[in-house]
Amino acid sequence: MALPGRRLDLCSLPGFFLFQALLLLLPPPPPAAGSGEQGLVPRVRFCAGDGRRALSFFQQDGLRDFDTLLLSGDGHTLYVGAREAILALNIQDPGVPKLQSMVPWPASDRKKSECAFKRKSNETQCFNFIRVLVPFNATHLYACGTFAFSPACTFIELRDSSLMPILEDKIMDGKGQSPFDPAHKHTAVLVDGTLYSGTMNNFLGSEPILLRTLGSQPVLKTDTFLRWLQPDASFVAAIPSTQVVYFFFEETAIEYDFFEKLHTSRVARVCKNDVGGEKLLQKKWTTFLKAQLLCAQPGQLPFNVIRHAVLLPAEPPAAARVYAVFTSQWRIGRTRSSAVCAFSLTDIERVFEGKYKELNKETSRWTTYRGPETNPRPGNCLVGPSSDKALTFMKDHFLMDEQVVGTPLLVKSGVEYTRLAVETAWDLDGHSHLVMYLGTTTGSLHKAVLSKNSASTARLVEEIQLPSDPEPVRNLQLAPNQEAVFAGFSGGVWRVPRADCSVYESCVDCVLARDPHCAWDPESRNCRLLSAPILKSWKQDMERGNPGWACATGPIGRSPRPRSLPQIIKEVLIVPNSILELSCPHFSAVASYRWSYGEAAAIPDASSMDYNGSLLLLLQDGEGLGLYQCWATENNFSYPVISYWVISPDRPLALAPELAGIPRERVEVPLTRVSGGAALAAQRSYWPHFLTVTVLLALVLSGALVFLLASPLGALRARGKVQGCGALVSGEKAPLSREQPLKPPKKCRTSASDVDADNNHLGTEVA
Ligand SMILES: *[C@@H]1O[C@H](CO)[C@@H](O)[C@H](O)[C@H]1NC(C)=O
Ligand SMILES: *[C@@H]1O[C@H](CO)[C@@H](O)[C@H](O)[C@H]1NC(C)=O
Ligand SMILES: *[C@@H]1O[C@H](CO)[C@@H](O)[C@H](O)[C@H]1NC(C)=O
Repeated sequence: MALPGRRLDLCSLPGFFLFQALLLLLPPPPPAAGSGEQGLVPRVRFCAGDGRRALSFFQQDGLRDFDTLLLSGDGHTLYVGAREAILALNIQDPGVPKLQSMVPWPASDRKKSECAFKRKSNETQCFNFIRVLVPFNATHLYACGTFAFSPACTFIELRDSSLMPILEDKIMDGKGQSPFDPAHKHTAVLVDGTLYSGTMNNFLGSEPILLRTLGSQPVLKTDTFLRWLQPDASFVAAIPSTQVVYFFFEETAIEYDFFEKLHTSRVARVCKNDVGGEKLLQKKWTTFLKAQLLCAQPGQLPFNVIRHAVLLPAEPPAAARVYAVFTSQWRIGRTRSSAVCAFSLTDIERVFEGKYKELNKETSRWTTYRGPETNPRPGNCLVGPSSDKALTFMKDHFLMDEQVVGTPLLVKSGVEYTRLAVETAWDLDGHSHLVMYLGTTTGSLHKAVLSKNSASTARLVEEIQLPSDPEPVRNLQLAPNQEAVFAGFSGGVWRVPRADCSVYESCVDCVLARDPHCAWDPESRNCRLLSAPILKSWKQDMERGNPGWACATGPIGRSPRPRSLPQIIKEVLIVPNSILELSCPHFSAVASYRWSYGEAAAIPDASSMDYNGSLLLLLQDGEGLGLYQCWATENNFSYPVISYWVISPDRPLALAPELAGIPRERVEVPLTRVSGGAALAAQRSYWPHFLTVTVLLALVLSGALVFLLASPLGALRARGKVQGCGALVSGEKAPLSREQPLKPPKKCRTSASDVDADNNHLGTEVA
């Protein structure tokens, strides 16, 4: 925080008047964090480059668009599909991933010139953007790319996890597997040597397709003519199950009459054993069905645009759930909101076993099909060919009547999530928790935790801003062996350890964080990562997050709230005629903060002021010396965040006995000098500054007086106006002191309005 004007030479004015005047001139402090209106907020935020959270970043000269990530089976190698190259990164050691090998795979010159000829940009679009990267067998990867708007695929040989060069004659047509346009979404999954892909099948991007290729089964696709998919269908995930493969996508809703274009999210399924029709539906799916996915809070507009989905396997397999991130097609103000919903596989299967919808040709409306049920049921994963009658039925009955209703686990306003990764974490007591890593359109990563057995919604444990300039997270890949998440961006790949418990410096903080990966070790007095060996003495309270219980030393007495003592006391020597600025780091955004003086819960009004979290003190004549503490209250638990012992060299003062044994450290705090004749001569340049301030003050104060006389509400308004002037005199940005050791890092630029993924030009669209 910077007070406007520094060392103002106002020897002629009483210091106290100046103190009050200065307070009037300060810009209005921002609203306190943690106030209910903001809804869900990350408890801790790390700005780009914040050294407290150790991250590493891989980049390679000349390479960009690190869009596709694949973890090797042993978890030691991360394969990355970038623009015109595929990389193998060794991620076994902590720190920056090491480049193990790289194979260039540029689009051919002929394709590039054809692409440019078709009015696509040779600067941003006519390249080979890698879109599919899957493990094919023990010795080969399978990769597809946009290949300058002419999709291509190839096998890449692996030797000791290193990539072998791609031979030109091994490049095959990749239509239906990779999109033409890098801005189009796509998904692909390899199951038993067979590739299931969902993407756009033409140059214009108007013909979506679900395709099965590779393997021994016949190649199958969706029928374009029958309109099983709307022309704008946009695929985000493909998830195999025992008998079927599910595709998650978004398209224009056809079943509702709506005055504007209405998006809807869908799950489609096809049977793995589908062989296509004989006379009807030749080389087409005979088991294609789709249903609507609903992710909404009761009484609210639905989150109708799915962005990504993942499966978290479970035991028994039927208990597995799909977790998906959604945004809404409607904005509130300038930002969109996001939600994470969970869908059980059982629910999805039940909807596909239920009624169908059909288009009433006369009214052009979609209604529930109430005709006779045929047996065997069309669209089931039966072995053997289906009857012509069943196939005719399938042509028009591909939309299910019921919706698959998801459970909203997390709703976050002002943020658009692009990708997610999920895992289960076990706490000290052996309870399991769902941990979600969520990438945003502005390049930050949220870690959300949801305790399995609680009815509550998820908490955001932290937010980490990765690149300093906002841009969407393109991809996320969990690497459980490495205890890290990898995030792909346009410029490189970030490695984010799943937790960095050392950022929680005290037991209280460690427990309040309620991160299942972190626990307090009282022996070493460290917040530690929960990995073997774990000792019985470690402390955690995932259920209630109550440090009063978890951090109590010795037996818990009858006093329910033992007094929290500071770990260190900062000693501040007052400087005569100066305003001291005592800062208080607001580490937790969900805590509320207040200042206390001595034993009193409040600070003295006349000589101090709580301004934007910092305490401003003007001490005169040895009054007001003593202990100032900033308290945080979180989860009904209060503790001192920082304690200042403000003393004067000529007035010895004794600390309260219980604090006397606590270590002390002398600190210098920012200060603003309010008088001093000698300074006047030396600081002439401040004279015009002072004049401006005084004249403005006089003007504003007289204006305020008129206001006060005119209306009883004038007092408030006058203050508002005066505060508005603060900007005029705050031109001088010099720091208030030589050092500002307690200054928190500058505010992150992460507002969702900075970047809009939908308006991105080519290549920056999240896949
Ligand atoms: C309020 O404090 C925060 C951090 O503590 C700082 O970034 C911000 O600039 C301050 N605002 C004003 C108006 O001084
Ligand atoms: C793209 O084409 C323009 C005009 O033909 C040419 O000047 C430019 O160098 C090309 N850029 C690249 C990256 O090939
Ligand atoms: C893996 O697949 C490739 C491409 O079809 C093939 O050439 C190779 O022999 C296969 N390797 C094994 C071990 O099956």
